[in-house]
Amino acid sequence: MTFLCRSDELDDPGSLGLDEQGLFVVKRDGQVFAYRNNCPHLGVELNWLEHQFLDADNALIQCATHGALFVIESGECVAGPCLGQALEAVAICERDGEVHLA
Ligand code: FES
Repeated sequence: MTFLCRSDELDDPGSLGLDEQGLFVVKRDGQVFAYRNNCPHLGVELNWLEHQFLDADNALIQCATHGALFVIESGECVAGPCLGQALEAVAICERDGEVHLA
């Protein structure tokens, strides 16, 4: 199992970039989600700033390039140029205060 991060490294809500794995993780309401750091629009990384994947309200995942917005829990794009597409989810498991690839 590949270690990704400690659970307490993640704010709730909050996000963390995992450059080595090309992934990022997002936490909301105690639940953690992981996605490939790849915008469905142009295939670029979503973030310009390290660990900054959420919009100003911490309500949605936001692509920094053209502002596409994605639902935290599903990765579905709900606004922007890739409307209707989705981020690629990555299966993870959280145990003993650590997040691992499932
Ligand atoms: S590259 Fe993400 S919205 Fe265009």
